Amino acid sequence: MSRPQANGGDSGQNKSSSNEQEPQQPNTIEFPMPDLSYLSDEVFQRNAKMGRLVAKKRCILCHKIEGRGAILQPPLVQVSMRRLKRMLDYDQYLTQLETEDPDRFTAGKKTFEAIRDEADVLKSMRLWLKGYLRQPTFDNSQAKMPLQVLTPAEIEQLASYVIQLGVEGYQKGETPLED
Ligand code: HEC
Repeated sequence: MSRPQANGGDSGQNKSSSNEQEPQQPNTIEFPMPDLSYLSDEVFQRNAKMGRLVAKKRCILCHKIEGRGAILQPPLVQVSMRRLKRMLDYDQYLTQLETEDPDRFTAGKKTFEAIRDEADVLKSMRLWLKGYLRQPTFDNSQAKMPLQVLTPAEIEQLASYVIQLGVEGYQKGETPLED
């Protein structure tokens, strides 16, 4: 598979020792950016636009969006960035799931295989988000997000928006969440 490798697991913190330089540089992080051509797909763009509006109604209760909303959970941009990064290692995650939670693995096998077999990282993230927004525990018994009641159209729109947020977060040098 031709996915880029995440580098070594830590989130690219550059532990340069001095804190003395004054105006802090934006926190640029090394991230092996995947193929981004999916972002220019017209349908994707339309969905992402709609998704932003849905998110501002539905997700802002817990996640900040564009600086507004609740602080119960990390801002949507940050969870989106972390998810994008996690998609790079999803193969490994599934191997672990198969041994640690075989029932869940078997129940979702078709979805997981589709996610794993999709070579375009952004498209595989879309499939992942569709599973997650339908049922947050679909691949993880520990997932803490309560089930959100969403229509299939809303899920498609939100998935596009979350992908866009994740990519833009890295491009703008937003601070990623610790794993
Ligand atoms: C009731 C509170 C709540 C609402 C509303 C909510 N979330 Fe979450 N969300 C959570 C919690 C809790 C987590 C887990 C945080 C963590 O893993 O650090 C989470 C995590 C996430 C993640 C990261 C999942 C992962 O494992 O990568 C995404 C993406 C996400 N939420 C998207 C959304 C979207 C889109 C909406 C709007 C439909 C939404 N959330 C609404 C509570 C909420």
